[in-house]
Amino acid sequence: LRRTQGEHVVLVGMMGSGKSTVGPIVAARLGRRYADTDAEVEKAAGSTVAELFERKCERHFREEESRVLEEVLSGAAPAVVSVGGGAVLDRSNRKKMAESGTVVWLRATPATLVERLSAQQAAARPLLAGDPEGAIARLEGERRPLYQEVADVVVDVDYLSADEVAAAVLEACAGRTPEAP
Ligand code: S3P
Repeated sequence: LRRTQGEHVVLVGMMGSGKSTVGPIVAARLGRRYADTDAEVEKAAGSTVAELFERKCERHFREEESRVLEEVLSGAAPAVVSVGGGAVLDRSNRKKMAESGTVVWLRATPATLVERLSAQQAAARPLLAGDPEGAIARLEGERRPLYQEVADVVVDVDYLSADEVAAAVLEACAGRTPEAP
């Protein structure tokens, strides 16, 4: 894989890991644009992620997600991008992320994820319908190796506040920025 450094900061991890809370903080500190693939999909479709799953199907959502991811990552100005938890399932998404800058995995244990995803938040995530705890355990088990594969940096978020996670992300990214010539 071709790796470029110092370009986009890409946040990956499970639903509930804090990507959408931490991403805007990191973007503000870096003075960069912030993008969230779920929000971009919703904007393009004019409906929520839950509605898309319901009215169309997961495959349709995944196609839109891949399209939006490519669009966001091809932006020339370095951005901070939060990527929906399931985007890593697609190999070409993983390749694009790996090539676009620094990929940071916000790693949380299933127990933390369950604790953080309130009933209301779980309702907005169709994959958690019915049995959120079981679904989180299963999805986390399937995806862990993929987050591991794509990530340049791992931040364990279980005992950190959003500001602390943002600080850890910034520190890790600063450490990877190539020296000025
Ligand atoms: C999904 C995660 C969600 C959203 C959709 C599917 C997943 O995004 O894309 O509900 O498969 O993990 P967040 O990770 O931002 O919650």
